[in-house]
Amino acid sequence: MKQFSFSIKTFGCQMNERDSEIMAQLLAEKGYVESMELEDADVVILNTCSIRAKAEQKAMSLLGVLRKVKKRRPGMKICVAGCVAQQEGEELCERMPHVDLVIGTQNIYELADLLEATRGASKVAIGMSDAYEIPAFIPTLPKLISHGELQSPFPARPFRKFLTIMQGCNNYCTYCVVPYTRGREISRKFKDIIEEAHVLVDAGVREITLLGQNVNSYGRTNPVTTDGSGYSFSQLLREVAAIQGLKRLRFTTSNPKDLSLELMRCFNEIEILCPQFHLPVQSGSNAVLSKMNRKYTRELYLQRVAELRSFRPDIALSTDVIVGFPGETDADFEETMELLEHVRFHSSFSFKYSDRPGTRSADFDDKVDEQVKSERLSRFQKRQDEICLEQNSLYVGKCLPVMIEKVTQDNMVGRTETNHIVHIEEKIECFPGDIVNVTIYHAGQHSLNGRIDFTSTTGLSS
Ligand code: SAH
Ligand code: SF4
Ligand code: F3S
Repeated sequence: MKQFSFSIKTFGCQMNERDSEIMAQLLAEKGYVESMELEDADVVILNTCSIRAKAEQKAMSLLGVLRKVKKRRPGMKICVAGCVAQQEGEELCERMPHVDLVIGTQNIYELADLLEATRGASKVAIGMSDAYEIPAFIPTLPKLISHGELQSPFPARPFRKFLTIMQGCNNYCTYCVVPYTRGREISRKFKDIIEEAHVLVDAGVREITLLGQNVNSYGRTNPVTTDGSGYSFSQLLREVAAIQGLKRLRFTTSNPKDLSLELMRCFNEIEILCPQFHLPVQSGSNAVLSKMNRKYTRELYLQRVAELRSFRPDIALSTDVIVGFPGETDADFEETMELLEHVRFHSSFSFKYSDRPGTRSADFDDKVDEQVKSERLSRFQKRQDEICLEQNSLYVGKCLPVMIEKVTQDNMVGRTETNHIVHIEEKIECFPGDIVNVTIYHAGQHSLNGRIDFTSTTGLSS
């Protein structure tokens, strides 16, 4: 019997990355094999993102390329998944008749059956329900064969994994498509999360990142699906952190309005919780924050930052910023620049505002001129780059535990607890996932350079 091949191209956030892994696993279980080249595969899946206009355009232009490939290879099946699929549904098939399957964000577990059903006619499955429960899907990762080697269908980063704890979002920030593309906020069952974390660690995973659009509100919105007992995110963190063999724990993302004292305390009390926090601020102006429906003020944000630093002085903070939100004046933007000076983020993602279909701000009438948006973005990014360098320079001379990600012929690449990439121009006997003590001798804007610290025995820490 012919063995079918598949290939998945992922756009967007870590949730999409995790969903792509799940789809790959589901197809592998049905006997499909992964193809390295998108254009050679029998089944091509584009897992799309619609957070900004640019993200959507990228997926659309790849679909254009695939139209030509399919002319050459008519047997190829093209499937569009993710947030664009959820939003566009039928319309996508009308615009792109070469698409065989449009599959929504709550339908990925039906992927294999849906593919079967796409004989001849295209199919759309974008059903979304407020009562959706994230299935108790436990990835059947095989054990580490020998130290550091994992025979997995996903060779990328097997020692560190994403674990989805929530779906959707109830916050309705006025610019954002997520509540429409991912549905209502739903917390996954506590016991399913813990079970999956155990499976991962047993398979050799040493770092886990818990995923949700607003992890701080874990367990709050649907006590029924969290076993009725109202677990909090901090409890979840403590329970995952207690798993023997797990070395590092991270999470993303958090809305500052829901950042509790209890969670901040975790940074002081949970040893393996990495001192790194992505806390999207979006704007430094209260007027803009209010129009964005973010439900916090600049003052509250700054207070939370100060508190976080009091619990964990070495915490590395990163953020997201939108410039040119409708109605943003020069004075509003200056407030964002001031906030940047005040907080001195270790890194940030900054974007020009773009209208997204179905969002409230798309109908706001005081849009900012493209040219002004571009100028503001480049000013913000220029200053952030300088601050990155200044902040990174503070690591020079320090000896830090670095988790190795890649070992090549004569060098290694790894990551600090603060999530900084470190290039090491030498090599010792070790594997991805091992932690090595490294003394930093040079700082760049986006990465550090270090040498193995042999004074701490072999350089390997536990
Ligand atoms: N849940 C996270 C955000 C996820 S979306 C939070 O609450 O902060 C990732 C980032 O994309 C957002 O933080 C925002 O900075 C950016 N973004 C979302 N919609 C946007 C839009 N319409 N235009 C420009 N940037 C946008
Ligand atoms: Fe979007 Fe706001 Fe929800 Fe984040 S909190 S996903 S920005 S609606
Ligand atoms: Fe994009 Fe959807 Fe994630 S819009 S950022 S893929 S939740």
